[in-house]
Amino acid sequence: MPFNTENITILAIESSCDETSAAVIKNGKMLTNIVASQLIHEVHGGVVPELASRAHQKDIVRVVSEAFSESGINKAELSAIAFTRGPGLLGSLLVGTSFAKSMALGLNIPLIDVNHMQAHVLAHFIEAPRPKFPFLCQTVSGGHTQIVLVKSALEMEVLGETADDAVGEAFDKAAKMLGLGYPGGPRIDALAAEGNPEAFPFPISEMPDLTFSFSGVKTSLLYFIQKHGEEFVNNNMADICASYQHTLILTLIRKLKKASKLHKINQIAIAGGVAANKGLRKALSEMAEKQRWELFIPEFQYCTDNAGMIAMAAHFMFLEGKFADQKVSPMPRFSI
Ligand code: KG4
Ligand code: ZN
Repeated sequence: MPFNTENITILAIESSCDETSAAVIKNGKMLTNIVASQLIHEVHGGVVPELASRAHQKDIVRVVSEAFSESGINKAELSAIAFTRGPGLLGSLLVGTSFAKSMALGLNIPLIDVNHMQAHVLAHFIEAPRPKFPFLCQTVSGGHTQIVLVKSALEMEVLGETADDAVGEAFDKAAKMLGLGYPGGPRIDALAAEGNPEAFPFPISEMPDLTFSFSGVKTSLLYFIQKHGEEFVNNNMADICASYQHTLILTLIRKLKKASKLHKINQIAIAGGVAANKGLRKALSEMAEKQRWELFIPEFQYCTDNAGMIAMAAHFMFLEGKFADQKVSPMPRFSI
């Protein structure tokens, strides 16, 4: 299909986990980014895949309509429809994929299949300051913990990742053990701000190279809770959260320092839901000053799952003529 790169308007849809989101981008400028978070999972203490796909099905038409009305763009002006192909939950991905395929078919415009992890990295190009290539990006979310070497917008190499849990999972599972509910990251973050990070020592994993591991610290928290009992835990909640969070943050920034030295790159970026963590942002800023890094942290709305980042990635793909055809299907596992 011939395409024109002079006036590019893309509708993007994100539905990989528990956020239904739609964004419109015009010539690389974000016009709107609508996100509907699914609250249904809170009572279950984690994302229930079947409930997530049902909620996407229920919300997607409303979210897309809102994206049209807020951006002032109508269907006839669209150059392409983009969607998250993976990684993510199959049932959730299917909702966004089917919606995008039908719409592209109906409007007879190209379809763009975006990798969610690549999009988290490209969220840095939505607003200034934008990093220059090459740069390193630590992607920290509920499903992933990676250090990515970003050579160009669409050329990325994973230098290291987690051998077990993602750091977001380490936050969420700890919060569940501590009786703080779901999602755990923001709750631990808030409590940690009032506690002493050195009150209780938790072990930092010593994995080789740029590999992360978070299952050991999670297990040590479980033993800590079993040893001290509920009353002690409740009376020392802020200190426990601060100490546990401190251990996770140290693990993240030590590996990032190692990657920066190894690859001689001092443009450092962070992306994904855990990038919203205030303790991590502070520790990174301090490290950046010491190591003379140029640090890039996206605006909060572009850290957690959102279609804005999918739209940004799709804009780069459009420029390179990277389109999908109607046979495309979701990929729950989809490496960068
Ligand atoms: O990127 P994201 O929205 O979804 C995935 O692709 O997984 O990340 C969600 C993760 C959850 O584990 C959540 O607890 C964590 O990001 N998170 C945080 C904070 N806000 C969200 N973790 C620590 N501190 C926060 N403030
Ligand atoms: Zn994500």
